[in-house]
Amino acid sequence: MKTTISVIKADVGSLAGHVRAHEALKEKCDEILSEAKDTGVLEDYYITNCGDDIDLIMTHHRGEEDEEVHETAWNAFKEATKLAREMKLYGAGQDLLSDTFSGNIKGLGPGCAEMEFKERPSDPVIIFCCDKTEPGAFNLPLFRIFADPFNTAGLVIDPSLHNGYKFEIFDVIEHKKVIMSCPEEMYDLLALLGAISRYVIKKIYRKDDGEIAASVSTERLNIMAGKYIGKDDPVAIVRSQSGFPAAGEVLEPFSVPHLVGGWMRGSHNGPLMPVPQKNATPVRFDGPPRVIGLGFQVANCKLIGPIDLFDDPAFDRSRVLASEIAEYMRRHGPFEPHRLPSDEMEYTTLPEILEKLKGRFEDIE
Ligand code: 13P
Ligand code: 13P
Ligand code: MG
Ligand code: MG
Ligand code: MG
Repeated sequence: MKTTISVIKADVGSLAGHVRAHEALKEKCDEILSEAKDTGVLEDYYITNCGDDIDLIMTHHRGEEDEEVHETAWNAFKEATKLAREMKLYGAGQDLLSDTFSGNIKGLGPGCAEMEFKERPSDPVIIFCCDKTEPGAFNLPLFRIFADPFNTAGLVIDPSLHNGYKFEIFDVIEHKKVIMSCPEEMYDLLALLGAISRYVIKKIYRKDDGEIAASVSTERLNIMAGKYIGKDDPVAIVRSQSGFPAAGEVLEPFSVPHLVGGWMRGSHNGPLMPVPQKNATPVRFDGPPRVIGLGFQVANCKLIGPIDLFDDPAFDRSRVLASEIAEYMRRHGPFEPHRLPSDEMEYTTLPEILEKLKGRFEDIE
């Protein structure tokens, strides 16, 4: 029997402003998921948060895009929203774009990463959850994990990785997808992946046998909503060891806090800071953007763990570097490239200001 991991996340209210989901909201989600476990919809689950986003990490035997699993997550977020409204938390129900569930949570606001596989004798899985950034934030680290031999020694020295991986990429603007194979199409792949706000990695497969290796939530909230209501704050599932990159190879690219879109008002580039869960509290200028990494062993559809992977002093220097980059970027104030480029600002509140200025312009002779 196959195991499915579904990670479904949403921001349904936080304190104070956009910093952190309230514990009571996670407890409410726990009630709903616990019921779903009792009735056999779920086999197991773990609830965490990265900043103001609640992440429901669920295992079951129902495959991807299962209506009951998606509805369970939807109900958890709905009930948590009611509580957030009572507590007058900030942005109560922020990521829920609909009042009613219609068979699949995709398109309703929450982000969703899923994968189904036959468990190996031992199956280490790493779940990454971000806040104050967007799905393209995973492009660079996932490329380095699965295609860069200077990151992943196994691509060179381990025969089970040596043939490389296939990348499924979504064009989130045109709603198209393409599959590219590495290493042979590496330069074409990078031509797309560098455009992090448009082309995002959805899934990665091992080339030898098509086995699923990674899955990312790619929903672009503001494109769906048609106006700015916050960032998409993505999650990713990555399998490791025995035919996949080692856990240490999976974590290694996060040691360089690369620049991602998000941060204050979802409108600024800033460094992605790898933190232990207790430090997933983006405060300075609502950031800088954060990523947490939780390591599980998946055993007979149960989640053993997690271990809080960035809770390691070896990542202290990455955090110091992220703070230095944050300081430098902040000095630019409202100027690009700290502020996002104009095409990305379309999905923020800036167009309303520009509209007001339109009448002031005259033709240049
Ligand atoms: P251990 O000897 O600690 O199991 O390490 C094995 C390994 O390959 C680490 O990358
Ligand atoms: P969130 O998407 O995390 O709610 O961020 C919204 C925002 O505008 C922060 O400044
Ligand atoms: Mg928020
Ligand atoms: Mg958020
Ligand atoms: Mg958000």
